[in-house]
Amino acid sequence: MKQLVIAIDGPAGAGKSSVAKQVAQALGYRYLDTGALYRALAWKALQRGLRPQDTRYIIEMTRETKVDLLQQDGEQRVLVDGQDVTEAIRTPEVGNLASPISAIPEVREILLDWQREFGRHGGTVAEGRDTGTVVFPNAEVKIFLTASLDERARRRHKELLERGISISFEQVKLDMEARDQRDSTRHIAPLRPAPDAVVIHTDNMSLEQVVEEVLKLCRARFTNEAPPST
Ligand code: DC
Repeated sequence: MKQLVIAIDGPAGAGKSSVAKQVAQALGYRYLDTGALYRALAWKALQRGLRPQDTRYIIEMTRETKVDLLQQDGEQRVLVDGQDVTEAIRTPEVGNLASPISAIPEVREILLDWQREFGRHGGTVAEGRDTGTVVFPNAEVKIFLTASLDERARRRHKELLERGISISFEQVKLDMEARDQRDSTRHIAPLRPAPDAVVIHTDNMSLEQVVEEVLKLCRARFTNEAPPST
């Protein structure tokens, strides 16, 4: 069977990670969390005391940083220069710095090559902001997942509390609104659905329903693809 690239984009808290992981698992594909790459850089920048305006240093840092995404027991581990930062990159501070870092064109350029290399042989479910528009414009399946700001903030708040991070719902919502605004209005690779993406509003849908919807679109592609030549 042909190994497809499935691109799932959308704003923070739309459910991309949960959906992408389950779709990857169901198809036996590799899962590529592109936001983790930007978060990994933001984590390292925070360790170095860099601020969003330290663009030159952030670019230099990006050039000399080795980020690895490892698949372990169906989970993705994130390594920065060999150090496991899987949990450390999930804090609100890291998320808030990842957004301005992701607006630096040179950083995006470096990560673009990295992401394309990862998906070169297909068999990949990629999730992020620009995987269907910029990274994999030829992806066989493109999905844009979205939900209302309240619903997305509610989901993210719950997730942070479960991780033991104490933060108010209002703060999560404010951070998310600011991040949406920055990610959608930046000049380079702004957050928007690819023209050929299927938009799914997940407000009133369960995770299982969204996964099933995406798998249905994948199956439709499988039956449309010519069988691989032997
Ligand atoms: O999905 P996330 O919250 O882990 O993403 C962290 C930040 O990285 C987010 O503010 C936007 C940015 N990002 C991006 O610009 N392009 C991507 N493909 C993925 C994430």
